[in-house]
Amino acid sequence: MISVIIAAAGKGERAGFEENKVLKELNGMPVLCYSLSAFSECGADEILVTAREEDEKAILPLLAPYPNARLVRGGKTRGQSVYNALKEAKGEIVLVHDAARPFVTKKIIRDCIECVKMHGSGVCALPATDTTVIAKNGEIISSPARESVFTVQTPQGFYKDELLSAYECAVAEGKQFTDESGVYGNYIKPPRLFLGERSNKKLTYPEDFMPAERVGFGVDTHAFYADGEGAPFINFITLGGVRIPSEKILKAHSDGDVLVHALMDALLSAAGLRDIGYYFPDTDEKYRGANSTELLKEVLARVRERGLVPYNVSISVLAETPRLSPHIDSIKQSLSELLQIPAERIGVAAGTNEKLGYVGEKKGITVYAYVQVHEILPCKISVSY
Ligand code: CTP
Ligand code: MG
Repeated sequence: MISVIIAAAGKGERAGFEENKVLKELNGMPVLCYSLSAFSECGADEILVTAREEDEKAILPLLAPYPNARLVRGGKTRGQSVYNALKEAKGEIVLVHDAARPFVTKKIIRDCIECVKMHGSGVCALPATDTTVIAKNGEIISSPARESVFTVQTPQGFYKDELLSAYECAVAEGKQFTDESGVYGNYIKPPRLFLGERSNKKLTYPEDFMPAERVGFGVDTHAFYADGEGAPFINFITLGGVRIPSEKILKAHSDGDVLVHALMDALLSAAGLRDIGYYFPDTDEKYRGANSTELLKEVLARVRERGLVPYNVSISVLAETPRLSPHIDSIKQSLSELLQIPAERIGVAAGTNEKLGYVGEKKGITVYAYVQVHEILPCKISVSY
């Protein structure tokens, strides 16, 4: 049986949010939920989550999807929190993990368990990339050879009875250790390392929570049918997936949703991909009369494959006709559903071109779209959110 202890009873002081950093949302999911999901998918028989009293109300509902998970009251230090949970753990093997490391992968968890079974302990670590030195009073006393220096992460796995007795010794002697490898190493034997991953970083400072941002820009123009040019018998145009009554009809191979076309180009551009003409050529019969919102879904999937999701969009429509202001809210609503972002992060402006040029002469509509996309933070693990 495997017990997992997820340490979540800190204050997150260095991150400086109003709430505990482990409750902070990343891509719509609290930090703590990433490790809950990863460990429960890797066969944890029980998960003990350490929490401060003031966070219990917020954490309890997050455990609801995991029948094997329960709360344990944390202590003043991380070591005390883990010790509290360890006393309640029932497993033969126990893995201890920091909730502040949401990007732990299934491979790391499996390797950790494997390492415990093979060597009696498994401590996730990475070879140091910076040179490290020992200093005293601001002066370097020694420089360990880089090959022998590792930075230690979590999870760290042990046989529960051994780790518990090590912790009991530490408590009896009033000694503090920063992690389990320290306690175990001091009282039992040298812990065994296994190779972690760079992505398994601990979120400590506010900037650790900022996803990388990218921007994209797109423009599209569609012409109206001129009088006598044989426009189809419809009385609307489609913008942002919304049908808008219009005397003039847009020419198009697809449904002529010029707004969605500009938006798709902006999204593809933000992801460093080619344009819509490349992916949906108008020489391809497949796209005749195509519903542009379906194409937008395909574009979003391509962008997501690159590890990116839209964050906000800003759109400007130049149209002398029809009058768009009564339809702006419906367009924003429609885009909000398509892009899965709140309507408050979507701006749609519409204006005429003061009768100047092709727009002013009612010959067509032009749309400019600007998007900001964010990197999906848990790019390595599959979780549903
Ligand atoms: N932790 C804990 N009990 C404590 C202190 C910390 O369970 N008394 C947990 C934290 O919730 C975190 C992990 O241990 O998931 C690693 O600690 P750290 O990154 O230092 O988190 P905080 O202590 O919350 O942050 P800070 O030190 O900036 O206040
Ligand atoms: Mg701390």
